[in-house]
Amino acid sequence: MQRTLALTVARHIALRKKVYSLSFRPTAAMSTLLINQPKYAWLKELGLKEDNDGVYNGTWGGKGEVVTSYCPANNEPIARVRQATLEEYEETVKKAREAWKVWTDIPAPKRGEIVRQIGDALRQKIKVLGSLVSLEMGKIYVEGVGEVQEYVDVCDYAVGLSRMIGGPVLPSERPGHALIEQWNPVGLVGIITAFNFPVAVYGWNNAIALICGNVCLWKGAPTTPLTSVAVTKIVAEVLEQNNLPGAICSMTCGGADIGTAMAKDERVNLVSFTGSTHVGKLVSLMVQERFGRQLLELGGNNAIIVFEDADLSLVVPSAVFAAVGTAGQRCTTTRRLMLHESVHDEVVQRITKAYKQVRIGDPWDPNTLYGPLHTKQAVDQYLAAIEQAKQQGGTVVCGAKVMDRPGNYVEPTIITGLAHDAPIVHTETFVPILYVLKFKSEEEAFAWNNEVKQGLSSSIFTKDMGRVFRWLGPKGSDCGIVNVNIPTSGAEIGGAFGGEKHTGGGRESGSDSWKQYMRRSTCTINYSKDLPLAQGIKFE
Ligand code: UN1
Repeated sequence: MQRTLALTVARHIALRKKVYSLSFRPTAAMSTLLINQPKYAWLKELGLKEDNDGVYNGTWGGKGEVVTSYCPANNEPIARVRQATLEEYEETVKKAREAWKVWTDIPAPKRGEIVRQIGDALRQKIKVLGSLVSLEMGKIYVEGVGEVQEYVDVCDYAVGLSRMIGGPVLPSERPGHALIEQWNPVGLVGIITAFNFPVAVYGWNNAIALICGNVCLWKGAPTTPLTSVAVTKIVAEVLEQNNLPGAICSMTCGGADIGTAMAKDERVNLVSFTGSTHVGKLVSLMVQERFGRQLLELGGNNAIIVFEDADLSLVVPSAVFAAVGTAGQRCTTTRRLMLHESVHDEVVQRITKAYKQVRIGDPWDPNTLYGPLHTKQAVDQYLAAIEQAKQQGGTVVCGAKVMDRPGNYVEPTIITGLAHDAPIVHTETFVPILYVLKFKSEEEAFAWNNEVKQGLSSSIFTKDMGRVFRWLGPKGSDCGIVNVNIPTSGAEIGGAFGGEKHTGGGRESGSDSWKQYMRRSTCTINYSKDLPLAQGIKFE
């Protein structure tokens, strides 16, 4: 399992291996680091240097392996991070648990005030942090800023929540008795995040976990360590300015060794894992083995279903945004576009035209709509998936080529003609390939939506109100996110985010997701002078 995890700990297999192999490339010499070039001097506004500490627990450290972070748009080294050793992990867990004793005694609305300050500190750095996300992850600048905005928004949400969380007082069947629900924090929340949302996913967990009275220990993806360090610096400054222990928001950068330690560690009361279904299953089994708590946000295989009565002026930009946005690297990316046979050819023709107009370029250029894939391995996965799709009967309508420019650029791709149950259609490949399927009836389309293993996001485009409610109901979509006339991606923070089946069942961010970060006690208090037993039992 260790060995498998070593190859698969982030969203895709082999990311960690990639980091190490790239670390030893001769181009990683100090003089060539992007951080030393005047063009990238803004990185220093985030407190980043050539070599950065990858451990924070009130003090900064990092005695483990050095990883070099590379820019996906040109494969140039940006800067380096020293990861945590297992000894440092151990020390950090101890400090975090000590910090919990302080943090959990602070009243929830006062914890909310600290989270408000974290949100404000992020607001001040939103552009520069968004630029770092763009440089290191490869997503376009507006998406980089957009995900910092999600962290800001979830902080605001958590501030309000800090005055609202609580349980009901229930009617007791016994006279002179009170039956109440008390919610307490679980303690230490381990947060393992993926490369594709290197800020927002931590933010959803961190802000909510904090107001609930938990402390956090974060391990970001091994390929986005600079973003983890920069975010932690912002959060740490707020804690330190308030004379609070920094270990309330600890960080141990690392690979599978740290992830495995967190999954197996009984002192980590909740493991929140975002990443692939494959790695999520390994983590889940380790956590379950110790009856630990887990919150899983795993893969998706999301469909847009377009009915004969759909407004195609909504469908076309929705499908393009959800399939091409973030270069197909969101868990909510649309991978299957199901078109009613009466609109199939027109929609394919219109989205193909739109695909050809997508502005491709450097992700940090404000004009760009489409950037590179995160790693070279993802480029290989893209090519392999196209090959399999062709073998399984698919026809490439556009794309299917690696672009002749530096960085991990591939053409956004549309493939038609595959069977709804072709193996490649049922596989989540984290790249911009859209499989277009032709259907005849609502029953068939709903069944195809639900027949995949994953259950994250889903959308229909229709004007038929009956169909809308059938879609939302028990025989409709079996996903955690069920949309109408909007794309599968772009979920708001106010709703609970997550999905069913192989997506893992967890819910993060809005609605009552806070309950996942707390434990519930059912408390019965006798304030009478008698001892009536429940169910009217007499025991005399
Ligand atoms: C993810 O892809 O990991 O729905 C999260 C969205 C975002 C969250 C995506 N708000 O696109």
